[in-house]
Amino acid sequence: MEQPYVDPGLDLEAEILRLKKERNAILLAHYYQESEVQDLADVIGDSLQLAQAAKKTDADVIAFCGVHFMAETAKILNPNKIVVLPDLDAGCSLADGCPIDRFRAWQARYPDSVTISYINCSAEVKAASDLICTSSNAEKIVRSVPADKRILFAPDRNLGRYLVQKTGREMVIWQGVCVVHETFSEKKLLALRERYPNAALIAHPECEAPLLAIAEFVGSTSALLRYAVESPKQEFIVATESGILHQMQKQAPHKTFLAAPPESNCACNECPYMRLNTLEKLYVCLRDLSPRLEMPEELRAAAEKPIERMLALSR
Ligand code: 13P
Ligand code: SF4
Repeated sequence: MEQPYVDPGLDLEAEILRLKKERNAILLAHYYQESEVQDLADVIGDSLQLAQAAKKTDADVIAFCGVHFMAETAKILNPNKIVVLPDLDAGCSLADGCPIDRFRAWQARYPDSVTISYINCSAEVKAASDLICTSSNAEKIVRSVPADKRILFAPDRNLGRYLVQKTGREMVIWQGVCVVHETFSEKKLLALRERYPNAALIAHPECEAPLLAIAEFVGSTSALLRYAVESPKQEFIVATESGILHQMQKQAPHKTFLAAPPESNCACNECPYMRLNTLEKLYVCLRDLSPRLEMPEELRAAAEKPIERMLALSR
């Protein structure tokens, strides 16, 4: 989606806050959004917290600053509300790498199994799954499946492998990856650790196994934030999307947070999809109430069931 023309003289922050009130809208933002977007949000959270916030809101409009599958989840839970996403092209490599036809063919190879899908997938894949999970509740969701049932896990292979290790439960795993969390360089990380020997390495479970093996703590975005704020340590190397550093620094201003270095000299630890949402596009989507998330009711209702099962198990 192209950057829309917006009068450069506008005070975007003030306009967004005005429109938010006028539309009775709630602004939900993921930790991986630009800091100026996070600072305007009513709720900042990880995938689970934002799904929970979407479930309980009584606003008329949900402006979702995150990626497509997150806004889609909010719409699945709120068929009668308007859900807008600043940039509809804000996808996700995990969701894109798991098309519904290949997913169904994969499931058909393992009849009589329970499918758990990571929330980073399309509404079609959710509708064809038994349970949804996020990185916050994945372990609990896996443990909820009776021991005699085979589990299919899609689409993140790193989170899948990590869960097998944590729970001791064998699973058939779809081989998808997150382009951001696969980017960290172990070599550069070890060099950084030499410069900061007291720093704790903390990592998101979407990272590759060798990195997770040397991490002091592994957790979802919100768990990493909590850990960093509550830990007595003063220095942290953070292996996840760099947007989370904004909240870490805000909540623990006296501590040092270093973004884990990517392999090449790029900004690859920034999610290219998340960063498609800009203040200009947020302003326009609140002004025009577009682009909106829409889907056929049959698909929505089918996708809602495994999400509701997840929410019930996450209370
Ligand atoms: P969480 O929000 O569950 O930490 O997941 C991170 C992520 O990559 C979202 O796309
Ligand atoms: Fe998808 Fe990775 Fe971006 Fe999250 S950080 S939205 S998993 S590509």
